[in-house]
Amino acid sequence: MPHERFHYKSLIELRQTAERESAWLPFDDDLSALSLPLTVHNHSLPNRIAIQPMEGSDSAPDGAPGELTFRRYERFAMGGTALIWFEAVAVADEARANPRQLILTEHNLDAYKRLIDSIHETGLRTNGYAPLVVIQSTHSGRYSKPYGSPRPRVAYNNPLFEDTPLPPSAIITDDELRQVETAYGTTAALAERAGFDGVDVKACHRYLINELLSAYNRPGAYGGDLAGRSRFLYNAMESTRASVSNGMILTTRINVYDGFPYPYGFGVKPDADPDEALTPDLSEPLTLIGGLVDRFKLPIIDITIGNPYKNPHVNRPYDAGGYVPDEHPLVGLSRMMQCVSAVQNAFPRLPVIGSAFSYPRQFAPNLAAGMIGGQHCHMAGFGRMALAYPDFANDILRGGGLNAGKVCLTCGQCAGLLRQGKPSGCVIRDPEYRRSNAQ
Ligand SMILES: Cc1cc2nc3c(=O)[nH]c(=O)nc-3n(C[C@H](O)[C@H](O)[C@H](O)COP(=O)(O)O)c2cc1C
Repeated sequence: MPHERFHYKSLIELRQTAERESAWLPFDDDLSALSLPLTVHNHSLPNRIAIQPMEGSDSAPDGAPGELTFRRYERFAMGGTALIWFEAVAVADEARANPRQLILTEHNLDAYKRLIDSIHETGLRTNGYAPLVVIQSTHSGRYSKPYGSPRPRVAYNNPLFEDTPLPPSAIITDDELRQVETAYGTTAALAERAGFDGVDVKACHRYLINELLSAYNRPGAYGGDLAGRSRFLYNAMESTRASVSNGMILTTRINVYDGFPYPYGFGVKPDADPDEALTPDLSEPLTLIGGLVDRFKLPIIDITIGNPYKNPHVNRPYDAGGYVPDEHPLVGLSRMMQCVSAVQNAFPRLPVIGSAFSYPRQFAPNLAAGMIGGQHCHMAGFGRMALAYPDFANDILRGGGLNAGKVCLTCGQCAGLLRQGKPSGCVIRDPEYRRSNAQ
C-alpha cells in the first residue's frame, strides 16, 4: 500500500498495519528494557534513551551557542535521556551548512563551557544524573553554505543531484581534504576542553565524509575501492584521536545505506539488477565498521540511513514532507530498524544506537523497547520527538508513557526551517519557535 498518514489509535492497530505491510517492527508491550543501565567507556548510563543530533541553526554570529541553543539543550537535559548526541558543529568556517551553524573556536570556547556546565547542572538538579554529551564534528561538503549561498565542496559530480555538472572547482581536491582532516583534530581538542564527553566524526546524510564513501569513480587517494573511499574517515578519526585524551569517547554517526543506486550510494550492491538497485546491501558498511572498531576501539556507534534533502522519507519516515513517498511509512521505518539490527547483529558487544524512533508517536517507546529487548540495538535515539516533547524520556521512564497530545507529528516543519537557515524547532508544540521565526 502507498503512503498513508498516521491514524493509529492503539498499538494493536499499528501492529496490524505493520503486519499487513510486511514491515518488521518489533513492538513490545513491556517497556522495561528502556530503563536498563549501560556502561559506555567507563560512563554508567542510567537508561537506554538518547537524543539524536538536531541542528538548530541558531548560533550567535561567532558560531557560539545562542540563546535558543542554550534553551534547547537545557530542555533536553531536563528531559532525562542518558545521552545527548550534540548537533553538527562545523570544523571550519567554510564547512558550515548555514551561517548560523555552530562552530567551536578558541575565541568562543567559554560559551561552550558554559553550555556544557549548564547541561550537567540541569540534568543533575532535575534527574540526579548528567547526560553524556557527544559532539558531532562535521564538514557539510556538498551542502556547505557558510555565508548564506551555496559553496558546495563535492566528492564527485553526481547526475542524481546535478542536472548540469558542477564546475571542477566545486570538487574538493585531495590537498584540501588533507587540510580538512587536521581540522577535525582541532575541533576535537577544543571539544574536550569545553567538557564534551566524546566526539563523533560525522559520516552520514551525504555530508562530506558520507559522500566520499560512495566516490567509486573518484580518481586518486580518496576514491575507488573501500580503502580509498574511507581514507578520509579513518584520517579524520585518527586526527581526532591524536588530539584528545583516552578519556574521550571517539565514535561516528554513520550511514550504512544511502538510498541511491551504485555508483552514487553507499550500502548497495554494485552489480544489482535494476529492480534491486535500491535494496540495502550492508557488506561494505559492515566491513568498514569492523575496521573502525578494530582500529579505534569504538565504545559506541550511531547508525542511520538516507539523505535529509533528496530522500528524506528514507532518513526520517514522515506524515508530511516535500513529496508523498511511494512507500508506506512503516515500510521505511522497518528498513531503518533492519539496518540498525544488522549492525548490532554483526557486532553484538558494540553498543549501537538506532535512529528514527519518532514516527510511531505515542507508540515509539514500544518500538524502542522491542529493539533493545530483542538485542537489535543497545540504545534508541530520538530526533524530532525531542524538539516537540523534550521531556519524553522522563514520561516513558516514570511509567506514564507518552502523552499523545505532546508527541511529534512528523510534519517536517523543523526540517523546513533548517533548510531556510532559520532557527529550527517545533513550531507545533513549542510556541517559542513560532515567535522567533515570526520576527
Ligand atoms: C531539524 C533537524 C535537524 C537535524 N540535525 C541533524 C544533525 O545536526 N546531525 C545529524 O546527524 N542528524 C540531524 N538530523 C537528523 C536526526 O538526527 C534524525 O536522524 C532524524 O530526524 C530521524 O530521527 P527521528 O525520526 O527520531 O526524528 C536532523 C533532523 C532534523 C529534522
